[in-house]
Amino acid sequence: MIQIGKIIKKVPIFRMLGKESIDFIVERLKFKTFQKGEAICKSGDPGEEMYIIISGQTDICIGEPGSEQVVATLKSGDYFGEMALLTGEPRSATVLATEACETFVLYKNDFDVILERYPSISLSMGKIVSQRLRDTLKKAASMPKTDNIEAKSDGSGPKGSLKDMALVDLISFCEGNSLTGSMKITRDSETGHFEFERGQLVSVKLGGTKEDEALDKMLSWEDGDFEITVRPLTLSKESKAAEEEIEVKSILIVNNSMVVRKVIERAFKGLGYKVKTASNIDNSMNELAVENIDIIISDVKLSDGNGIDFINKVREQEDLPFIFITDNAIKAEFEEQLKQLGNAELTKTHEVSEIVKLVENKIL
Ligand code: CMP
Repeated sequence: MIQIGKIIKKVPIFRMLGKESIDFIVERLKFKTFQKGEAICKSGDPGEEMYIIISGQTDICIGEPGSEQVVATLKSGDYFGEMALLTGEPRSATVLATEACETFVLYKNDFDVILERYPSISLSMGKIVSQRLRDTLKKAASMPKTDNIEAKSDGSGPKGSLKDMALVDLISFCEGNSLTGSMKITRDSETGHFEFERGQLVSVKLGGTKEDEALDKMLSWEDGDFEITVRPLTLSKESKAAEEEIEVKSILIVNNSMVVRKVIERAFKGLGYKVKTASNIDNSMNELAVENIDIIISDVKLSDGNGIDFINKVREQEDLPFIFITDNAIKAEFEEQLKQLGNAELTKTHEVSEIVKLVENKIL
């Protein structure tokens, strides 16, 4: 269980979650393996689960059998299958195991419960889905069936001529790729606009013409140009709140030894924290004057004072939490002094995992 938690914590969308949340997710995961060459899911099939890759590699393929194109290659720590769960649409791509794969599977019911409980996950997922969709559209634009469509270099969606791809096919292309964005159709002096939300056509405009008439009219156009623009998924109020929830926390690491500073810095950066370092109290005060710090991890003895001097100096300005890295020799006396000051902890070992745990208990 602990091991699974560690793997899950490395997945970017779960990185900011605390231990309790990780445990909640871990309890809902199933383990599944796939052989090299096996199709894990197929484009167009209904999707009832998403996968997190523990080991191995998969290709994400789009296009008709025989002329598939690889849009992306995913590895350990990546996930796939989330789009069908988020949109309710069929699978947008075929996922092929190009190496033997070990995966964690999360079924839709559990996925929904987790997203409701931790909206920050849907926020980061939404951003990745938008990016994936954009990549897929670009790739699709260069495929044989649509080789008449150019991908624009500025990162937006494809464009081309209605002579090469009929409007009806373009609409099903946008639906099939769960587009959130717009498609502009121009012919002579007329311009029509189609808006899609997660693959659903939500509005059609052509000057002042009524929607159904506008659609009928444009469907009869045999020439003209089209341009598809992908919009990042709009954030709901909940997601905006979630964005605030996943605000990156900042840590100040204070230690005489550069090696110790580097080791702790690397661990916290890997977990998605913002990290500042300082070698003594004086330098720390300079950092605190310019940086918004959430917690300080410090050595007990510094070149210009001890931990108690340090706390007192900082707390003249703000009541920041402290974690001290100690050894047993000075623990008892120092611990007593810290109790009096409050909002400060001592590590029992020098292990980074213990420091991480203490920090997460204090600020998450
Ligand atoms: P889903 O549509 O449920 O099933 C196929 C999965 O492939 C899809 O979810 C995504 O997880 C993944 N996928 C689709 N397009 C891309 C892409 N461009 N990059 C990475 N993964 C993708």
